[in-house]
Parts: sequence; structure tokens; C-alpha cells
Amino acid sequence: MSNLRIALQAKGRLNADSTALLREAGINVEDPGRKFLAKSSSFPAELLYLRDDDIPRAVGMGAADLGIVGYNEVLEREEPVEVVRHLGWGACHLSLAVPSSAQYDGPEWFSGKRIATSYPNILRGFLREKGISASVHQIAGSVEVAPSVGLADAVFDIVSSGGTLLRNSLVEVYRVVESEAVLISGPSLHSDAGKESDLGRLLFRFDSVMQSRGKKYLLMNIPDDRLEEAIRIVPAMRSPTVLPLAQRGWSSLHSVVEEDVLWDKVQALKAVGAEGILVLDVEKLIL
Ligand code: PRP
Ligand code: ZN
Repeated sequence: MSNLRIALQAKGRLNADSTALLREAGINVEDPGRKFLAKSSSFPAELLYLRDDDIPRAVGMGAADLGIVGYNEVLEREEPVEVVRHLGWGACHLSLAVPSSAQYDGPEWFSGKRIATSYPNILRGFLREKGISASVHQIAGSVEVAPSVGLADAVFDIVSSGGTLLRNSLVEVYRVVESEAVLISGPSLHSDAGKESDLGRLLFRFDSVMQSRGKKYLLMNIPDDRLEEAIRIVPAMRSPTVLPLAQRGWSSLHSVVEEDVLWDKVQALKAVGAEGILVLDVEKLIL
């Protein structure tokens, strides 16, 4: 039975998070990213490190069975791949940006202008839809420097933190597409029953890792006569766990909460008499 081959970005925006997701799912390789192709010692999988631009094609033609890549690349490349999961990280926009000195007054500004991009298909589709005639200059990398060297009047590129635009005196003026990291599969997967079942195992692990993200495990001591109030504050998945303490009249209450409400919950719990509140990371969550 052959290994599942998973393509991921060799370096760049999504590399670290892709590697972390695989590692948390128990797919370990030695020296990640050091080799072009690395076999996992802990799962029947091998990792293929590529430029993100090449991942949809690699998966579409069967050089890899799966890929972790930005949805932006999937849209641009139009390869026969399926999105299996949206991964909930790597969020960005594909946006039009103009020099900060430009007198931008709406999408019509782009008429007759030269726009540099690595996403010509998406850009042409957008211009057609809006009825704007502009010339599209395809550039493989460093699109953001094109206006300052006179190669273009504007850019159409990925904006994530906005740092790249800022460093190049460009301003985002129109968000065309929203994107995030996705897991894609290609035709090679469906011609191998062994690989399909390995994908099932992999998805189970990915889902467990993704469900645990942003969650914290809370435990505390609470007087029995305040338990009901505390349970109302931290309801938990089914219901919180309550264990008696050795000291009569006290219990230990355990629950899982979303990190973004953690401090509000902790303060409310203290106010109803909770003591010794412990907050722990949730590594995996299997529903
Ligand atoms: C994109 C884009 C910019 C950068 C924007 O690169 O090309 O360089 O991210 O991010 P920022 O708004 O946080 O500065 P990406 O890693 O998606 O791929 P690429 O290098 O292949 O273009
Ligand atoms: Zn790229």
C-alpha cells in the first residue's frame, strides 16, 4: 500500500502553520522543510514541499494526493481539485491596492491602468464582471514593488497583516476575494482505497486538532452551595464534571471554555466563590 503524499508550502506565509497542524495530527518528519520530499515515521504519509503556486497543479495531476494551500491559489489555478476542509487559519484577502499618493475615487480609477499581479485569472474575471478595461501584468513574485519601479500603476495581491503594502507605500482599496488555508484532494486519491481510508484517519485527527483550537480547560474548587451558579457560568459540552473534594462541602468543577471569554468567566467564577482556578491548554478535542 502506498503512502499518502501531502503537498505543503516550502516557505512563506502558510509554511509554519501547515507544519504545526501536521505535527499536532501526529505526522512527524525529520527536519521538516530540509528535504524536497520527507517520509513520516509515524503515519503512512510523505510530505512534498513546494511553492504554493505549484500545489494545486501537483494535486490536480496526481503528483500529490492532498495539499495544504491558500484558497486563493485554488481559485487561480483552476485544477481538478476538491476542497476537503477549510482550515480556519491563514486568513487573507486578494485585494487591489494603489500607491498612497494616488487620487483613488472608486473602481473606475483602474480604467486604462496597468495592474501587476500573480493572480491574472481572478483579476481578469473581476475586471470583466465590473466592466473595467485595464491591462493585467502577470508577475511571478515581488508584485508589491512593481508600482515603485514604474512597472505598473497598481497591484492585485494577497493582503494578510498589511505589512507588505505598508512597506511599499500602497493602500488596499478593494477586497475582491477572501481566502484562508484549505486542505485539497485530487483524482489520485479516489483510485486507491487504502489512501481513501488513510484520508479518513487524517481528517479525524485534523478535526480533533481544529476543534481544540481556542479552547481552554478550566478546573476549580467551589463550595457545594455555589455549584449551581458556577455551572451556569461554564456550561461545557454536555455538562461540566463535578467531583467531591476530600473536604466536605466542597467540589472540584471541570469545564472547557472558549479562550476569548476566558477572563470574563474566571472573574465571574471568582465572584461566586471559586478558588484555586487552574487554566490548562486543550491539545485535542474529540467530539
Ligand atoms: C503573500 C503576498 C505578500 C504577503 C502579504 O505571499 O505575496 O508578499 O503574503 O502578507 P502581509 O499583508 O502579511 O504582509 P504568500 O506567502 O501568500 O505567497 P507568495 O510569496 O508565493 O506570494
Ligand atoms: Zn506563491
